[in-house]
Amino acid sequence: MHVLGIESTAHTIGASVVSEKGIISNVNSVYIHPKGSGIHPREAAIHHSEEGPKVIKEALRNAGIDINDLDAIAISLGPGLGPCLRVGATLARYLSLKFSKPLVPVNHAVAHIEIARFACKASDPLVVYIAGGNTIISTLVDGRYRIFGETQDIAIGNAIDYFGRVIGVDYPELINVEKLAMEGKEIYELPLPVKGQDVSYSGLLTAALKLVKEGKKLEDVCLSFIEHVYATLCESVERALAYTGKKELLLTGGTARSLILKEKLKYVAQEHDASFAVVPAEYAGDNGAMIAYTGFLAFKSGVRINVEESYVKPMWRIDEVDIIWHTN
Ligand code: FE2
Repeated sequence: MHVLGIESTAHTIGASVVSEKGIISNVNSVYIHPKGSGIHPREAAIHHSEEGPKVIKEALRNAGIDINDLDAIAISLGPGLGPCLRVGATLARYLSLKFSKPLVPVNHAVAHIEIARFACKASDPLVVYIAGGNTIISTLVDGRYRIFGETQDIAIGNAIDYFGRVIGVDYPELINVEKLAMEGKEIYELPLPVKGQDVSYSGLLTAALKLVKEGKKLEDVCLSFIEHVYATLCESVERALAYTGKKELLLTGGTARSLILKEKLKYVAQEHDASFAVVPAEYAGDNGAMIAYTGFLAFKSGVRINVEESYVKPMWRIDEVDIIWHTN
């Protein structure tokens, strides 16, 4: 069985083929935003519509499969940026209709978790999913990925990226802010916004940028900001580990590329006698493979969607999806 997966929720247009043998191709093209600005949805969508057909052809070619021999086409319908989502959805619907292939809806956030579970061989983890647009602590309970903590405003990745753009570091802002933080010596006191199980970063971001305006040493402000951002997340993760009693902690999403956070979460896991794993770098950012793999699991379990109902869902929450392919 071969499933083609298409990803286009934000800056990446990706395509991949997955079969019983695993991930047999994974081709991705990333829209790089101009320095000083975030992703412009329309510009990213133009990139995706130009690159999408090439990416899909290359994924099929690398997999050595003709499009007629596919069993299904999986598409990431959300959450994400509307203009970007619509490019991938349009391509998937067109291919589904033209080649008479079933269409399989995939939630992008679920896919980040599934690819990490697959790559790290995690059986029943507490998952920390952090990216530009998402900060979610989740585990599978009664057939759904339930949320045990999330951001109440901006995501951890967006907070660090925005901070990085204001202080003028290059892309990828996360890594470059962390590099500056590693040269810092003094930690200034900032808000530690843990609200129940949830976190919140907008106030912390404002407070850190105020320190920049006041002329505090940039490396010290980066250190202070990063330490407070990660401390809030670690506190929420620690509460979730204690509450759920899970013995595996799994980090996934684009922000999993962080140089510093994984050390902190590893420590949190140790404190709770849990193992710790991080999604491999090639599957950390958005990619076609995570959609193809999740689509493969879903298709095998009978998940389908009619083309007429396959509208995009920019706010599609992870806990709205029935996970019928896992027993736990
Ligand atoms: Fe993502």
